[in-house]
Amino acid sequence: MTQTVRHFLDLKDLTSEELRHILDTAKSWKQARQGRPKGALDTGAPLTGHALAMIFEKSSTRTRISFEMGMQQLGGSSLILQSDSMQLGRGETVSDTAKVLSRMVDAIMIRANSHDAVVELAEEGTVPVINALTDRSHPCQLMADILTYEEHRGSVAGKKFAWVGDGNNVATSLIEAAVRFDFELVLACPEIYAPDADVLAWAASEGGKVRYTTDPKEAATGADCIVTDTWVSMGDKDAEERHKNLAPYQVNADLMALAAADALFMHCLPAHREEEVTTDVIDGSQSVIWDEAENRLHAQKAVLAWCLGKI
Ligand code: CP
Ligand code: NVA
Repeated sequence: MTQTVRHFLDLKDLTSEELRHILDTAKSWKQARQGRPKGALDTGAPLTGHALAMIFEKSSTRTRISFEMGMQQLGGSSLILQSDSMQLGRGETVSDTAKVLSRMVDAIMIRANSHDAVVELAEEGTVPVINALTDRSHPCQLMADILTYEEHRGSVAGKKFAWVGDGNNVATSLIEAAVRFDFELVLACPEIYAPDADVLAWAASEGGKVRYTTDPKEAATGADCIVTDTWVSMGDKDAEERHKNLAPYQVNADLMALAAADALFMHCLPAHREEEVTTDVIDGSQSVIWDEAENRLHAQKAVLAWCLGKI
């Protein structure tokens, strides 16, 4: 009997129940290890003996450290592989790489330039593949973000989120999160950096409460959470033009003032102060960015355990 491999490529690929189960696990495992040294093993070390290969085609601080520490806490091990020091960087195919890695590790995490390559890796290998950011999406980030919102404000269902800025990969995963976790989302982006039309169409087809506007004030008004990201993602070549076009989309005190009085501010980091967000907002009392960063660890441990059939 063939068993289905549990990949974590995009939030839309999982059911709401599966995503909720992963988040509930993350919450309880986080609580269970409060106050313990960060390198200490989790009780039961559920991934003992399991190895994760981590392939990076792009830079990373949070993703790399959270996956590496996560595997350590769960009793497993991890390998950091920069793609330019692999044969992959010299033309070995994704398909052949998938087959070789599948013989030696239990799961693969990849941060890739091309989403298609990640899908191919999953199709051609026999072990779970986790998307750790592509040009399309960043699902792990959103698991951490929903965990963070709910720690501070309770269930995200029925809340209003506003995305202000570039309709990029993180925005795509936020749209998918809005559908799967049942919250309202208004994205304010200039037309040239509008969110992916296919994802917006998918959200509509699923009955999601997701809307696109070019007006940041409209998105921010009454929001329970305002989210932004860099104006220049890894791989973008038109930094100067982006700064010019996105200047009206800065998250600042005036924009935050339109949101609900207890609204949170989120940013996946790294941030560019006085560009997409002002210093007073990112370091202010509504900002939960450090919790978001920490929660990458807790959310991804549960993702790993789910992919490996432990939860
Ligand atoms: N937010 C995020 O993915 O951070 P890194 O690029 O540092 O991994
Ligand atoms: N949108 C950003 C996210 C970085 C974590 C990028 O792709 O560079």
